[in-house]
Amino acid sequence: MKVLVFGRGFLGERIARTLPGATLHAADIADEAAVRAALDEHAPDAVVNAAGKTGRPNVDWCETHQTETFRSNVEGPLVLARVCQDRETYLLHLASGCVFYGASPAPGGWREDDFGNPTSFYSRTKYAADLVLSRLPGVGIARLRMPVDSAPGPRNLITKLAGYKQVIDVVNSVTVVDDLVQVLPGLVERRAEGIYHVTNPGTLKHRDLLALYRELVDPAHDVELIADEDLVARGLALKGRSNCILSSARLDALGLTMRPIDVALRDVMTKYARAVGR
Ligand SMILES: NC(=O)c1ccc[n+]([C@@H]2O[C@H](COP(=O)([O-])OP(=O)(O)OC[C@H]3O[C@@H](n4cnc5c(N)ncnc54)[C@H](OP(=O)(O)O)[C@@H]3O)[C@@H](O)[C@H]2O)c1
Repeated sequence: MKVLVFGRGFLGERIARTLPGATLHAADIADEAAVRAALDEHAPDAVVNAAGKTGRPNVDWCETHQTETFRSNVEGPLVLARVCQDRETYLLHLASGCVFYGASPAPGGWREDDFGNPTSFYSRTKYAADLVLSRLPGVGIARLRMPVDSAPGPRNLITKLAGYKQVIDVVNSVTVVDDLVQVLPGLVERRAEGIYHVTNPGTLKHRDLLALYRELVDPAHDVELIADEDLVARGLALKGRSNCILSSARLDALGLTMRPIDVALRDVMTKYARAVGR
C-alpha cells in the first residue's frame, strides 16, 4: 500500500519512517493545486495528514498567529479532504484530544463522539476540522494527546516537563509515540472512518512521570508542582492547557491495542535514559 504523509514535523517524520509504504511530502496542504500535484505524482492508496500549526515554543503562539493557524489547521485539512474525496483516496488526519477541557460528562473519559469544549485558539482550530472531517466517508481522525517518546526532543512530553521549573499537578491521557506508530497502519489498512482516540490505556499524572524521570534519568532533578490555575495566574502561559482523560473504546473495538501507560512509560523512560547516556 502506498501512503503519502504530509507534514515534515515531529510526527510526520516519525510516521513516514515507520509506516510501511510511506513517503513524506512537504507540499503546503492549504494549496489545493500543490496537493493535487502531489497526489497525481504519487498516486497513493492513502494519505496521512501530519501537517498543522502547533506553535513554537508552544501553542500560545497560535493565539497571536491566528491566520496562519486556521489556514493550516482548518483550511488545509479541508483541502486535503476535498482532493482525497475526489480521488476516493483514504485520508487519516492527525487531530488532538486537546479539544476537551476538564472532566468528561460520563465516567470512563471523553468518548469519541462527545462534543468538545475547546478554549485555546489552537484547540478551536483542531476541533473545527474534526467537526467536518468526522462526517466524511473515507476519512479517519486519530486524536492524540501529549506525545511521550523515547527520543529526547522539544515536542516530547518527557523533555518538556523535565525542562520546566514549575509543573502543573494534573492527570491526563497521553500517547506513547512507539505505540502510536504500531496502531496507525491498522487504521490505514482498515480505512477506519470517524474519530479514534489514540491514547494509551490508563492515565498519567505529571508528578508520576517526573518521579520516574528522577528514578531512571536524573536523581537530582527538582521541580515545583503547582495548581493548574496557577499556570496562567503566574504568567507561565497565555491560555490554560487542556487536561483530560479520553476513552479509546473505538480503537479497542477494532482490535488495535496500545500498552497500558504504566508499562509503556517505564519502557520509554528506560530508552530515554539510555539516549541521554544514563
Ligand atoms: N505534538 C503534539 O503535542 C500533538 C498532540 C496532539 C495532536 N497533534 C497533531 O499532530 C500533528 C503533527 O504534530 P507534530 O507534533 O508533528 O507538530 P510539528 O512538529 O509542529 O509538525 C507539523 C509540521 O506541519 C508543518 N506545516 C504547518 N502548516 C503546514 C501547511 N499548511 N502545509 C504543510 N505543512 C505544514 C509544520 O511546518 P512549520 O513548522 O514550518 O509550520 C511542521 O513541519 C498536528 O496536526 C498536531 O495538531 C500533535
